[in-house]
Amino acid sequence: MQFNEILKKRCSIRAYKNVEITEQVLHEILNAAISAPSAGNLQAYEMYIVTDKNIRQKLAAASWQQNFIVEAPVNIIFCANLQLSAEKYSKRGSELYSIQDATIAAAYLQLAAVEVGLATVWVGAFNEKEVKAIMNFPPHLKPVAIIPVGYPNEEPSPTPRRSFNDIVHESSKGKK
Ligand SMILES: Cc1cc2nc3c(=O)[nH]c(=O)nc-3n(C[C@H](O)[C@H](O)[C@H](O)COP(=O)(O)O)c2cc1C
Repeated sequence: MQFNEILKKRCSIRAYKNVEITEQVLHEILNAAISAPSAGNLQAYEMYIVTDKNIRQKLAAASWQQNFIVEAPVNIIFCANLQLSAEKYSKRGSELYSIQDATIAAAYLQLAAVEVGLATVWVGAFNEKEVKAIMNFPPHLKPVAIIPVGYPNEEPSPTPRRSFNDIVHESSKGKK
């Protein structure tokens, strides 16, 4: 699939078929995430794979009942590793780079999923404290996104974007 097609096809999917994802396919998209750039190449993030239905139910409850988390056979929790980045970059590492590392890896995974026929949605609306408790994460791991992954069971209409000129600015003109 051409990259442009992948960009066009990727959209948030919130309904999934009851079809398992093979380990090979899962590894393919996880490796795509790992190929993402990171600050100082520290890769200051972790990916936690959740397939257990009981844990998926708990995660949905911690995410204001976003029940597609339970429907998706796999959920991947992207965590910033605050400590790993802080060791090299101090506050900027723990407050920014580690979060960016996790974020860009998640975005790569979302794009790679499209190529293998899978669909995802970014879940950012969750109670961080509850997710940390469910997953037993140590203090230095900050969950930044839960990504449900599955075969799509809906075809939503494309979501609009702000206009090009509203978003893109020329530095010489400044923002009005
Ligand atoms: C940081 C972030 C947080 C988001 N949180 C949620 C969420 O909690 N639940 C949800 O259904 N979608 C969530 N989304 C998905 C957005 O609603 C979606 O990407 C946006 O509406 C554009 O639609 P598209 O992904 O289909 O292009 C989130 C996306 C981002 C980037």
